[in-house]
Amino acid sequence: MSIARIKGFADMFPPDSDIFTRMENTARDVFSRYGFVELRTPIVEFTELFQRSIGEETDVVQKEMYTFPDRKGRSLTLRPEATAGVMRAYIESGLANREPVSRLFTTGPMFRYERPQKGRMRQFHQINCECLGSHSPYADADLISMLLRFLDALGLKDLTLKVNSLGCAECRPKFKEALLAYLQTVDSAALCPDCARRVNTNPLRVLDCKQPGCRAITDAAPKLLDYNCPECRAHFDTVLDLLGAEKLAYELDHRLVRGLDYYCRTTFEVVSGSIGAQAAVAGGGRYDGLVKSLGGPDTPGVGFAAGMERLALMMGEAGANPADFYLVAMDAQSRTQGYALAQNLRGAGLRGEMNFSEGGFKSLMRQAGKSGARYCLIMGPDEAAQNTVVIKNLESGEQTAVPQSEALHFLQTGTN
Ligand code: HAM
Repeated sequence: MSIARIKGFADMFPPDSDIFTRMENTARDVFSRYGFVELRTPIVEFTELFQRSIGEETDVVQKEMYTFPDRKGRSLTLRPEATAGVMRAYIESGLANREPVSRLFTTGPMFRYERPQKGRMRQFHQINCECLGSHSPYADADLISMLLRFLDALGLKDLTLKVNSLGCAECRPKFKEALLAYLQTVDSAALCPDCARRVNTNPLRVLDCKQPGCRAITDAAPKLLDYNCPECRAHFDTVLDLLGAEKLAYELDHRLVRGLDYYCRTTFEVVSGSIGAQAAVAGGGRYDGLVKSLGGPDTPGVGFAAGMERLALMMGEAGANPADFYLVAMDAQSRTQGYALAQNLRGAGLRGEMNFSEGGFKSLMRQAGKSGARYCLIMGPDEAAQNTVVIKNLESGEQTAVPQSEALHFLQTGTN
């Protein structure tokens, strides 16, 4: 019996793998314009790193981590997100002492034991950015602006930016108290079982529960922004002013508390209107106490991660990167000429393949169509005798015969 892949884990063939490559290349291009450099961190870390950074009471740490002992009994975990590992590397490398501000991005697989569904995998991929070392609200706005520029460069539409401010260690406890007092006045039986538990463990998360019963209750709950201290409020107002000055549309969302414990002040998410229930394509925020809590210097930070599977759902086939040609050679002589032509075209930077084995015309044309290439180059005995090639536009069906020496020009310009 053959062995199947694990539920929630995917193999990725084209066009999906092409779309991922395009996404990563676009990210590198856009992020480098903002001074970001690439960091690659390990996929496995000590479990304690995630417990201490993401937070013991979060769903990720409580229920979603792939945790296992290594051969010496040390507890290791497949990373459920990138931020914790980036912080560890930042501290361990001593970067904080060398650079006033570090801008680091990373991409790769993350692992969460969630119920798989459209847009939700157990192995998924993030593009993750962290800006470390700046307290300024300009850093928050710059990062959000970069995220939106990246999404725009991917050609994505129908997106909403949601923002909120979680306050700081000074003002958030007061909000928490007010929220708790409010939640204790409501009938706990009206909350979903998860939220009934969260009231005591992590009351903020009750705010972003999607269950209608919980939402009805939290509609009238106290709002974080009303409890922001003057410094947090001024910070947030500057972020909003900067977004406004750039004409970046945003929605204030008082329910946006995020699922990881390290956030303070600005939080944000980008939500898609076209990919179903798992609509958050990116999320992030400020985390000023995180580096210090992991044993590093007192360094502020702000970052985000975008989910590549969800972005790919939005990009669809349009994000694929079709080959330029598929060359169909009908006999031995045209195969020899076609082989030379294909090598010339590749030498000039075009991408394409050809058939090496004999086959009926129809089945070879079917193969060309399946390859997804823009053009089919057809060569039979007549073309070989005259040093020509028939170029068929596989989208429009239009056919043109050109000298082989002009094929490159035709493929590059679409005309002879
Ligand atoms: P997060 O909101 O947990 O934040 O995840 C970021 C994005 O990863 C989500 O918006 C979503 O697109 C994608 N994602 C999460 N879980 C899954 C899944 N099971 N399947 C598919 N996609 C998923 C973080 O991870 C933070 N570390 C972001 C951050 C960086 N904050 C500061 N710096």
